[in-house]
Amino acid sequence: MVVAYRHEPFTDFTVEENKQNLLEAIKQVEKDLGKEYPLIINGERVTTEDKITVVNPANKEEVIGYVSKANKDLAEKAMKVADDRFETWRKVDPKFRADILFRAAAIVRRRKAEFTAHLIKEGGKPWKEADADVAEGIDFMEYYGRQMLRLKDGVEINSRPIEYNQFHYIPLGVGVVISPWNFLFAIMAGTTVAAMVTGNTVLLKPASTTPVIAYKFMEVLEEAGMPKGVVNYIPGSGAEVGDYLVEHPRTRFVSFTGSREVGTGIFERAAKIQEGQIWLKRTILEMGGKDTIVVDNNADLELAAQSIVQSAFGFSGQKCSACSRAVIHEDVYEQVKDRVAELTKELTVGNPAEATNNYMGPVIDQAAYDKITGYIEIGKEEGKLIAGGEGDDSKGWFIKPTVFADVDPKARIMQEEIFGPVLALTKAKDFDEAIEIANNTEYGLTGAVITNNREHQEQAREDFHVGNLYFNRGCTAAIVGYQPFGGFNMSGTDSKAGGPDYLIQHMQAKTTSEMF
Ligand code: NAD
Ligand code: ALA
Repeated sequence: MVVAYRHEPFTDFTVEENKQNLLEAIKQVEKDLGKEYPLIINGERVTTEDKITVVNPANKEEVIGYVSKANKDLAEKAMKVADDRFETWRKVDPKFRADILFRAAAIVRRRKAEFTAHLIKEGGKPWKEADADVAEGIDFMEYYGRQMLRLKDGVEINSRPIEYNQFHYIPLGVGVVISPWNFLFAIMAGTTVAAMVTGNTVLLKPASTTPVIAYKFMEVLEEAGMPKGVVNYIPGSGAEVGDYLVEHPRTRFVSFTGSREVGTGIFERAAKIQEGQIWLKRTILEMGGKDTIVVDNNADLELAAQSIVQSAFGFSGQKCSACSRAVIHEDVYEQVKDRVAELTKELTVGNPAEATNNYMGPVIDQAAYDKITGYIEIGKEEGKLIAGGEGDDSKGWFIKPTVFADVDPKARIMQEEIFGPVLALTKAKDFDEAIEIANNTEYGLTGAVITNNREHQEQAREDFHVGNLYFNRGCTAAIVGYQPFGGFNMSGTDSKAGGPDYLIQHMQAKTTSEMF
């Protein structure tokens, strides 16, 4: 009997031993810098001439690794392997599949400091954020393993006398898993194991900025007993490999996490029936957000300011769940605004490998730096700069946490996903207007309401249209199995990662009926 699920605890780095362990792990990871990583197709290592150079965003000179890059021919080879392997993998006992996840979780838990250190280097994550990313990856494996054990016997349905009806979930086929760089371990691992534990075979294309951690995860899955060819590792260009596989007639489903732009493109291309294709492809798309914290006039204002600042600037605002807008009741607007500016100015920014306590590290790459600083310039036209507003890309890609006040609800910085440390504040005349503003984007991922008014809370529960709504706390940091995560509207296909119905999306239900 598997013990009940419980989320992986976070590490307390104020404990000297934990701090020293991580410092030691960072040193160990530094010894591996600049290594080469091949593709993995059917368990075989394939090295290509063309390589992705992965750098530390906090120190552009530091090369994390050189990763072989798949092209269309190699993607085709991997597809054939996955298609072939599906015929055996789909029949493997779900318990066997779940056990691979439990073992993999145990391996990562044992190597937690090493994985955390790696995320600090490859993703530029501050210690706390890197630790939480590893914990979330472990949670996905533990949770989905248990969910599979629940689903394996199907669901009870009715039978009349002399007949026996059964309802079972069976796998779909080959799944293309395309993951983002921001939860470089958790989302990459979670989406991969969800597809695999349900009996599908997988082509894993991680983000090109962070493919090394995915290679390390492949090694973990192999050590945990995953047969060859069940998950194939094919990093490469989204436009080349991604498009090719999304359009491939043998692709049965696509599990994508990333931007709205790429996600909607995948949705369109996957919908087109290709020659020889005999199914409608399923798409599981988790996309962007423009997440709002609403502050009521009857609220704990210190809690409001702390929640806004933490949700806006944790991991430099590079979370789909990050608070990028706060809508504040006019009665308390000035107080909350001033406190948000004060707290923001206290935040420290720096290389996370060099200091344990920097609140923020770098943003991921030059393109992100240019995009975010471009939005800061737009913000200077659209609002009043009250904190930050500067960047420095001389060594790594660092941007100060930035706050604009008095922004119009329809301004670009209130509507478009910036995906960086930029926050806009706006004023609402009452709670109704605050909810109206909160709903005024095309997204619907997370949101929070800070209020002591129970009626307003219930009003928000009904009318604030987001997949994850939080009361009297920030709008980030969902925990697998506790706050299933995923958004509405242009934030995705309404699915919930880490929730009880997530695995079902990777399967199809089959009814059998026997006459006695
Ligand atoms: P992105 O869309 O640029 O890239 C995501 C993945 O798609 C990468 O692996 C990339 O290589 C691949 N890709 C790019 N072009 C492709 C194409 N034409 N076909 C197939 N694949 C292609 O996103 P990103 O910058 O890696 O991540 C940030 C975005 O992800 C933000 O918008 C954020 O809100 C979103 N996100 C959403 C969630 C969620 O759960 N809703 C979670 C994390 C991140
Ligand atoms: N699960 C992550 C969060 O809630 C994206 O912040």
